[in-house]
Amino acid sequence: MKISILNGSPKQKKSTSELLVNYALSQLGNNNDVKIYNIGKDILSENQYKVIAESEAILFVFPLYIDSIPSDLLRLLIRFEEKKLFHKNIMIYCIINNGFYEGQQNSIAIEQMKNWCMSAGSTWGQAIGIGAGEMLPFIADVPLGYGPNKNLGNAINQLAFNLLNRKKGADILVSPNWPRILWKIQSSLIFWYPRAKQNNLKIRDIAKKSKIK
Ligand SMILES: Cc1cc2nc3c(=O)[nH]c(=O)nc-3n(C[C@H](O)[C@H](O)[C@H](O)COP(=O)(O)O)c2cc1C
Repeated sequence: MKISILNGSPKQKKSTSELLVNYALSQLGNNNDVKIYNIGKDILSENQYKVIAESEAILFVFPLYIDSIPSDLLRLLIRFEEKKLFHKNIMIYCIINNGFYEGQQNSIAIEQMKNWCMSAGSTWGQAIGIGAGEMLPFIADVPLGYGPNKNLGNAINQLAFNLLNRKKGADILVSPNWPRILWKIQSSLIFWYPRAKQNNLKIRDIAKKSKIK
C-alpha cells in the first residue's frame, strides 16, 4: 500500500510530531511503501506533489497552532487544492498534538482538516487529537499502550488499523494517562520556565496579558 506521511511541525529540531510519526510507523508494519515528508523543513518538488497524490492513504501529523493548522502546512493544503491532484480514492488521516492538557483542544483543527479534505475531493478517514504534546518526548521510553502512553497507544493502534484497511473511524481525543495537576507543575518546572529563560523572559512575563488598544 502506498502511504505518505506529512510531518507539519515547523520545528527544525526534534518535535513531538516526529515522535508521533515514528509511533505511527511502528504500527504500520514493513510491507507498505511509506514515504515521509517534513513540511516545516523541506520544500516539495513538483514530482513530490504528484507522488503524494498517488498515495492510497495520507497521514498528516502536526501540532496545533492557535487552535488551528500551522501556516506552512496550511499553505501546502491550499497548493494541493489548487493543483487538483487529489481524488476520492485517497484516504486522509490526521494525528494532531497540542500543548494544553486536553486532546479536545484539537477539535477545531480536525474540523478544518475535514473541510479541506472535502474541498480537495478526497475521502476522510480518521483523526486523533492528543493533549499535553510536550510531555510525550519525556515518556518516550514507556511502550505504547502502557502507563502514561496507554490512551495514546490505543488511539494510534486504532488509526493504523483503519488506515491499513482504508476504513473510516470516529475522532479520538486523548490526554496522557497522567494527572493534569501533576503535569501542570512538572511542565512549568521542566519545560515552560526553562523555555522562557532561553528566550530572555522572566517567569512573571509568562503570565502577562497583552493589552489591546
Ligand atoms: C505559535 C504556537 C501556537 C500554539 N497554539 C496552541 C494552541 O492554540 N493550543 C494548544 O493547546 N497548544 C498550542 N501550542 C503548543 C503546541 O501545539 C505544542 O507545543 C505541540 O506539542 C508542539 O508540537 P511539535 O513538537 O510537533 O511541533 C502552540 C505553539 C506555538 C509555537
